Amino acid sequence: MQEEFEKHDFFRSNYYVDDPYAYFDYLRAKAPIYREPHHGVFMVTGYDEALEIYNDPDRFSSCMSTTGPFAGNPIPLEGRENDDISGLIEEYRDQTVFSDQITTMDPPKHSDHRSLLMALITPKRLKENEDFMWKLADQQIDTFISRGKCEWMDDFAQPFAVLVVSDLLGVPEEDRVKFRKQLIRNEQEQGGAVVGGTAGQEAQHSPLEFLYGAFSAYIEDRRRNPKADVLTGLANAKFLDKSTPTPLDVARIAANLFSAGQETTVRLLSHAFQVVGERPDLQKRLREDRSLIPNFVEESLRIEGPVKGDFRLAKKPTQVGGVDIPAGAFLYVANSAANRDPRTFSNPGEFQLDRDNARLNVSFGRGRHACPGAPLARAEAVVSLNRMFDRTSDIRIDEKVHGPPGARRYSYLPTFILRGLTHLNLEFDPR
Ligand code: HEM
Repeated sequence: MQEEFEKHDFFRSNYYVDDPYAYFDYLRAKAPIYREPHHGVFMVTGYDEALEIYNDPDRFSSCMSTTGPFAGNPIPLEGRENDDISGLIEEYRDQTVFSDQITTMDPPKHSDHRSLLMALITPKRLKENEDFMWKLADQQIDTFISRGKCEWMDDFAQPFAVLVVSDLLGVPEEDRVKFRKQLIRNEQEQGGAVVGGTAGQEAQHSPLEFLYGAFSAYIEDRRRNPKADVLTGLANAKFLDKSTPTPLDVARIAANLFSAGQETTVRLLSHAFQVVGERPDLQKRLREDRSLIPNFVEESLRIEGPVKGDFRLAKKPTQVGGVDIPAGAFLYVANSAANRDPRTFSNPGEFQLDRDNARLNVSFGRGRHACPGAPLARAEAVVSLNRMFDRTSDIRIDEKVHGPPGARRYSYLPTFILRGLTHLNLEFDPR
């Protein structure tokens, strides 16, 4: 096994797609931060080390957070191992991929855009959005319930996730279907990862152009003709210093929210229902005591987090966990590995419904870039589980598609950023 792990390149081969966890364990056993030999990327598999890096933007830049060096790196890093390269990063920032998206920004610009973003996700807006979810889940279940089976992604998770974010941002009804089709087209063109890099593929500079156009038009319109709606709230949002952002700035934030919440949430919903189908014992307990559902969702997030990892770039020579890290080194902070660090989670490979620290998972990242959509994604999972339990009496894995217990066939997205099933076929008894 050791030989295989040494031989196969995590970032460029499909060897780890079905099971990245054994490799992460292997790396962690060497050291919680270990430099892999193919590209010299520091693989961060320890929980404490991941938190230290996420919480320190002074030492670690997010400038290529979703692609690392794998979509091209324009910054001349050679020979700069002992320098502070903060200025160099700024000099080349515009040439890096996704440089217009919040995930790649560093303070102070990040703080400004983040405040704009948080103005869109207020507790009031989240509450209204959750009320919408309950109705929407029922409507979506209505479309397939009588069949007694479904392909969970296409029939429920994808449309549900798009329509929930559309509602959050106040996208007019007539545009929602158009957005969804375009996002799916983008995703197919990129091999399944709108939010991140794909093994062996280059990322587009800005895959969200079409959303920028649509949201810029909404913002311009609402600035001219304010209405009592969410888009008018978006149009009026201000930066921290109270200056007014350009329509394109607002459009970028809205587009980021729109796209970042899709694929990730779909993978959470699919994994949660995979466990429900695989574990009749847990399904029974959840059906009998719905108050267990939130912790079930946390444990699903911990054991199969939808974002396998994100990158950071060391801005200066430093040390983490006793390991020397030169300036200009890329670090891959593997959330999925930190979530299984036995120093933080006992028997980490075991799904434990009653795990008392499941919520410490880092599936939504940490620090300044921590996922602002986390409450939304959690609510989407809780609502879907509740509604499916209300509308069915038994949920099972479809054996004709996935094979019998003990010989299941599941396929996973071939990317080093996302972790999740490509499809999930379920059977159930409608009530
Ligand atoms: C289970 C579902 C989700 C997971 C696992 C997830 C995971 C993450 C992670 C790990 C990050 C941090 C990236 C980094 O530090 O480099 C992040 C950031 C982000 N997420 Fe999510 N996310 C989910 C759902 C959502 C939803 C529903 C939305 C929007 C409604 C959303 C919007 C964003 C945005 C805008 C950022 C960038 C924040 C920033 O850079 O300040 N996410 N997400």
